[in-house]
Amino acid sequence: MASEDHSHGGSVFANVTQATEDPILGVTVAYNKDPSPMKLNLGVGAYRTEEGNPLVLNVVRRAEQLLVNDPSRVKEYLPITGLADFNKLSAKLIFGSDSPAIQENRVATVQCLSGTGSLRVGGEFLARHYHERTIYIPQPTWGNHTKVFTLAGLSVKTYRYYDPATRGLNLEGLLADLSAAPSGAIVLLHACAHNPTGVDPTLEQWEQIRLLMRSKGLLPFFDSAYQGFASGNLDADAQSVRMFVADGSECLTAQSYAKNMGLYGERVGALSIVCGSADVAVRVESQLKLVIRPMYSNPPIHGASIVATILKDREMYHEWTIELKAMADRIINMREQLFDALRAKGTPGDWSHIIKQIGMFTFTGLTSEQVTFMTTEYHIYMTSDGRISMAGLSSQKVPHLADAIHAAVTQH
Ligand code: LMR
Repeated sequence: MASEDHSHGGSVFANVTQATEDPILGVTVAYNKDPSPMKLNLGVGAYRTEEGNPLVLNVVRRAEQLLVNDPSRVKEYLPITGLADFNKLSAKLIFGSDSPAIQENRVATVQCLSGTGSLRVGGEFLARHYHERTIYIPQPTWGNHTKVFTLAGLSVKTYRYYDPATRGLNLEGLLADLSAAPSGAIVLLHACAHNPTGVDPTLEQWEQIRLLMRSKGLLPFFDSAYQGFASGNLDADAQSVRMFVADGSECLTAQSYAKNMGLYGERVGALSIVCGSADVAVRVESQLKLVIRPMYSNPPIHGASIVATILKDREMYHEWTIELKAMADRIINMREQLFDALRAKGTPGDWSHIIKQIGMFTFTGLTSEQVTFMTTEYHIYMTSDGRISMAGLSSQKVPHLADAIHAAVTQH
């Protein structure tokens, strides 16, 4: 019977149900299907130029030229842990070149598939080797965090982070929830430019968080997807991580080069585990290899080679910081333009959070109903939680977006 079914188009997978699209990447799928010339994608956090085009940094093009012109380069497998130079330079970038943890060889760094892959490998390592299997993630957080850590074998709980009333940090709720967490629990922290809210603790607030976490032995796991994008300065955006490393205790950090080097599709990132001693770091690295090998064997070579080429050359590094600052400044400028446009229209509400929030996203406070209205009537695509990617906006499109927000809040 079964084989007859096949000849008539039957399938052994006939019972597979249609999955819903990813809440973030699905927005791009919907956008691509829309034939309207006025459509605007403010969903995924991907940088666009003023002309609305994706940007390949000039310094990245230069690095690629150097790589292509180097006849000694081959396509052999990388080690399971990735490109050694890339790993060293990535650790220096996030922890600082004078970091004692690096000098004391207490850091195990492995190249992973961008930020997501770094979180996944780190999560699975913790599920296998750490005594506490619960990870606390902020409420709200990046839509993928829960899935990544659950599949890695951790149990996911949330801590309060954002206060909708002030559109700022709920520090009291955060400290109360972390105080109530079991000692030793893992805590996911956004190093800077919190996604989706754009709300970061101040340095004083970070210090309060650090003191509490250290007093309870909570293990920090930093997600650093936007180093350089929040302020335009790579060191300033790494301050939170460096405060935790400076106290000599342990932590994990997932780094992504998707945004700050525009290497989205190259999938290049790193997981670093800062350990208490050099010999622990050696053993930790040996176990990370056992996590990685059955998952994807070893990481891709091209993106990591681009990053290593740029980070190890003083002049190219400098060019990168200038291009990075220009991207960050354009986003800050978009915030100002959108805020001014809404104020000029007299749109009801206090929109100052648009200029106060940090990084790629504005957490507008728009409801999912208002978002649907803006998509249907104005062809503006964004995630249903009201997050807009400021990096997808341009001066030319600001009036269209301001019209849509104005209509949404006055009619819905
Ligand atoms: C985002 O939040 O839009 C980005 O981090 C892209 C992604 O993978 O979701």
